[in-house]
Amino acid sequence: MHRLFVAIRPPEPIRDLLIDAMDDSAEFRWQNDEQLHLTLRFVGEVERPVAEDLADALGRIRAPRFDIRIKAVGRFDQRNSGALWAGVEPKEPLAALAAKVERVCVGVGLEPERRAFHPHITLARWKGRRGHDAEDFVARNRVLASDAFEVAGFTLFESRLSRHGAHYEEVASYPLG
Ligand code: 2AM
Repeated sequence: MHRLFVAIRPPEPIRDLLIDAMDDSAEFRWQNDEQLHLTLRFVGEVERPVAEDLADALGRIRAPRFDIRIKAVGRFDQRNSGALWAGVEPKEPLAALAAKVERVCVGVGLEPERRAFHPHITLARWKGRRGHDAEDFVARNRVLASDAFEVAGFTLFESRLSRHGAHYEEVASYPLG
């Protein structure tokens, strides 16, 4: 089985900005440079033929390039875990591209995604209760922002989980515009 997702890799200056915003707080598992991405669609575990159909079908997406920028940070809280993330704006071109990716996913036989699309770049994860530290981080980084950068393509990634965390491997890249 292959654990796949479709995402945008931010360019290096943007990744550097995000890494600079991270601190040495041991409460969180910070993402490394290789792990930084904006997920358009989490696919999950699929068999190889589905993965191959998906990789082909994504190549038929036609969409223009567009500009986005980093804007602020936020957090997702679950009962016993959570994540810190960087927000992006504007959301409309990302949602339009995510909708095309979604159509392709359904077209190759995947279950439709029922959750709302909240574009973000995960910076750190935590287990347990870290609400207070997370609140501090969000308050300190409220003004985090980048210059606009161009989204010139998107990527199909395979996620390999190991003892050392998730390793994301590029399966195929797709240019826009
Ligand atoms: P996250 O960063 O908000 O956790 C690879 O796991 C990517 O797919 C991550 O960026 C993750 O988002 C996203 N993703 C979305 N839904 C997921 C799910 N149900 N399980 C794991 N990852 C998911």
